[in-house]
Amino acid sequence: MTIQNFIPSEYVNEITKGEVTWKSPSNIALVKYWGKEANQIPANPSISFTLNTCATTTKLTYEKLKNTAKDFSFDLYFEGKLKEDFKPKIITFFERIEAYSPFLKDYHFIIETSNSFPHSSGIASSASGLSALALALMSLEKELNPNITEEYFNKKASFLARLGSGSAARSIEGDVVQWGKHKETKNSSNLYAIKYPYEVDKTFKNYQDTILLVDKGQKEVSSTVGHNLMHNHPFAKERFKQAHKNLDTLKRVFKTGDLKKFIEIVESEALTLHAMMLTSLPYFVLMKPNTLEIINKIWAFRKRTNKNVCFTLDAGANVHVLYPEFEKEETLQFIKDELVAYCQNGQYICDQIGFGAAQLIVKKE
Ligand code: DP6
Repeated sequence: MTIQNFIPSEYVNEITKGEVTWKSPSNIALVKYWGKEANQIPANPSISFTLNTCATTTKLTYEKLKNTAKDFSFDLYFEGKLKEDFKPKIITFFERIEAYSPFLKDYHFIIETSNSFPHSSGIASSASGLSALALALMSLEKELNPNITEEYFNKKASFLARLGSGSAARSIEGDVVQWGKHKETKNSSNLYAIKYPYEVDKTFKNYQDTILLVDKGQKEVSSTVGHNLMHNHPFAKERFKQAHKNLDTLKRVFKTGDLKKFIEIVESEALTLHAMMLTSLPYFVLMKPNTLEIINKIWAFRKRTNKNVCFTLDAGANVHVLYPEFEKEETLQFIKDELVAYCQNGQYICDQIGFGAAQLIVKKE
């Protein structure tokens, strides 16, 4: 598929008003997306587990305007309150997708959104937030053109979400999702994410992710700035190659359930992401002392017990603790006994692999 496939021809229906609600999950990358080209094209392919509990619910109410507006017309509510400061991000998103969703200036929208996880927890809400909005807009597109297939719906939702935030492309479906062209993955694309098309051992089907909230502050480096640091980065070329190689290896790991290798790849990816930030100009240290304490505790516990627990990190200090469901009892006990003390206000979120976004209600008038 090319970008041309996402430009709609004429719509079949006239829709004057309606509403739709989507609940869309966050995701945690195993092979990280870090570095991008123009138009949200990733510098390397990435793969993630879709989460289950961490999600954004977005209700989109739409009403056709008498005349096509000059500017986008919408009100944005976050957790019940009008949020003017979130609007620029939505305007940028609308500008980027207007060519593919040409109805945008024909409607007034009310966007009501809320997160299942605490606001300012340091958990990125852009993946769940922008995927939820992309899905809601796709529901309106489907009203206008009921002929679109489910496959097209999901692909285009991912395509639109990507234009809002790269990682959001991976939040449409579950449970293992890949975004970005990779020679060894059939049908993979830089334009949208796909459900992982190969065998995934049952060990991974209910994988656990306990998110330790080490630092709930604002992100020190916005993702845009962070991605840009990969331009002219001395190690960028090797890093992008490594991501392809890790995806090659993961294919066998997913098939066989080789947890030792899985752990090696996942932790190496997290540390490489941070290494890229440590070695960029300007440079950043995004881990906090407690991030390192947690990593060391995880390694000591793994050595002591031979359990398959590992960590991954995003562009921040919080730690995602990943482990198989069959070791949940002992691992969760270890987390409570030894890791929660390093969390800000003892806060953590128990999540697990999920199966993608869901539409909650559709009311047609
Ligand atoms: C470190 O998706 O937030 O979480 O495309 O600029 O919105 P933008 O970036 P974003 O980057 C996420 C980077 C990451 C790794 C990952 O999720 O793959």
